[in-house]
Amino acid sequence: MGKFEVLDHPLIQHKLTIIRNKNCGTREFRQCVNEIAELMAYEVSRDMPLEDVEIETPMGKTVQKRLAGKKVVIVPILRAGLGMVDGILELIPAAKVGHIGMYRDEETMKPHEYFVKMPDDLENREMFIVDPMLATGGSAIMAVDALKKRGAQSIKFVCLVAAPEGVKALRDAHPDIDIFSAALDDHLNEQCYIVPGLGDAGDRLFGTK
Ligand code: URA
Repeated sequence: MGKFEVLDHPLIQHKLTIIRNKNCGTREFRQCVNEIAELMAYEVSRDMPLEDVEIETPMGKTVQKRLAGKKVVIVPILRAGLGMVDGILELIPAAKVGHIGMYRDEETMKPHEYFVKMPDDLENREMFIVDPMLATGGSAIMAVDALKKRGAQSIKFVCLVAAPEGVKALRDAHPDIDIFSAALDDHLNEQCYIVPGLGDAGDRLFGTK
């Protein structure tokens, strides 16, 4: 079973409180989302494998560690996931970025893929799916489906605020993936918004209504 971890570093909690406030403007919201994503990336990448490499310092030869293994792909779920990409790239600048777009069918309430653009060779890459809100889990489940269908074997899901309903749905559908969130909130309301949450993450990031 993959793990579910709440990354509640004090800096993360502080910045999350700032963006939960309904009076937080677009500019500060966008900046804090990126900063939280950057702080989270530090923990999410904690299990990255290392390998030995021989180098020469000004004092002589030595064997040291460097990152080995799978190369990271950040996969924002459009559109709110875009708000987390730059923050993670600050820490992992060589990462590639794949995009996945979905819409919800108004009648069935089921999500559908409308855009998927990924680098090649997903089998050998470490995928970080990012979306600020894990609400019902519908989009997250579909994003993981889309990546697995294209060969991905190592997938982590990273969000800022999770609802218990979404965590359960995603873990039930994909027990093998690790889920990281900055907070686990109370519940979903009838409109499937997370309570207390922070409202519509996409609208708040991009200043739309
Ligand atoms: N998506 C959002 O942007 N906010 C929520 O509370 C739930 C889903």
